[in-house]
Amino acid sequence: MVQTIADYDSNEYDYRTYWDGRDYERWAEERALGRLIRLLGTPDWLADFGGGYGRNAVHYRDRARHYVIVDGSATNLRNAAVELGADVAAGRAFLVRSDLNALPFRPYAFDAAIVVRVLHHLPDLDGALARMAGTVGGRFLLDVPIKHHLLARLRGGPVRGADPVRTGTSESPFWNFQLDAVRHAMTRYGWRTRPVASVNNLRRWDRLLPGGAVRVLDPAVRVVELAAQRLGRGWWGPSQFVLAQRVRGPRSVAADVPPGVPLLAGRMCCPACRGRLAWAPAVATCLTCATTYRWDGPVWDFTIR
Ligand SMILES: C[S@@+](CC[C@H](N)C(=O)[O-])C[C@H]1O[C@@H](n2cnc3c(N)ncnc32)[C@H](O)[C@@H]1O
Repeated sequence: MVQTIADYDSNEYDYRTYWDGRDYERWAEERALGRLIRLLGTPDWLADFGGGYGRNAVHYRDRARHYVIVDGSATNLRNAAVELGADVAAGRAFLVRSDLNALPFRPYAFDAAIVVRVLHHLPDLDGALARMAGTVGGRFLLDVPIKHHLLARLRGGPVRGADPVRTGTSESPFWNFQLDAVRHAMTRYGWRTRPVASVNNLRRWDRLLPGGAVRVLDPAVRVVELAAQRLGRGWWGPSQFVLAQRVRGPRSVAADVPPGVPLLAGRMCCPACRGRLAWAPAVATCLTCATTYRWDGPVWDFTIR
């Protein structure tokens, strides 16, 4: 099992600052997610895999009865605990620190899930997809970074074939995928998929032109982006959103939890060996491999050390 969590914690990095000065990118994604989240219905339990500091919770927090932000970054989850403190206190939101390659959830723990701006961090995408998808019983919205988007083709980059393309640095590699390869993997895991939006179709245009030109062109660019979100499905933009739906219906999963332990516990298992967990105040212990995990405070730590 490859275990790699991209480092969002070193050097006092705060991912929230990434969004400074990226108004177009943020707006484009918000428009897409605002529309697409409805395709997930009104789930009882929703997972936001690699959910960071909860940036996208605004889209699902009024639709899902419970939601779980799963992320490997301690800093991002600490910030989520502040941003979403009221939901955490109300027992609606849960923040679980975990590697997406070794998840602490039972099969079909969730009715729905999203994964946004995360797959480019996953070198073993097939493995991580199998693990994420295995915990979802209903619908799953995936943001797939593709290698064969329009700009890459115009630049003459390596876009052919099913293999992922690696960019970035050796410490921070980024992976881009062939959309069909990702969809085929989901089909093998028992899902039907369809592309539902092409997003960020004019990536970085507002960072390349001078401010005056950006102000003049902005309304026209937004019209093009909205049209391309539909027309460019599968080929135009670098972020292709795919809706996946299980071919067979979900099964019931929740186990009983001891009094005083939140309901999420009944949907969890040991991330190391998939064994059952015994829940005591602040600590969950695997009944098979005896690994312990702390669940005191707003962030539950289910990383494997
Ligand atoms: C670009 S951020 C996106 C956060 C959020 N989805 C959003 O759209 O704002 C990528 C997130 O993926 C998380 N991540 C990357 N690799 C991971 C892994 N293997 N397991 C868990 N989280 C991971 C990072 O910690 C980070 O919070």
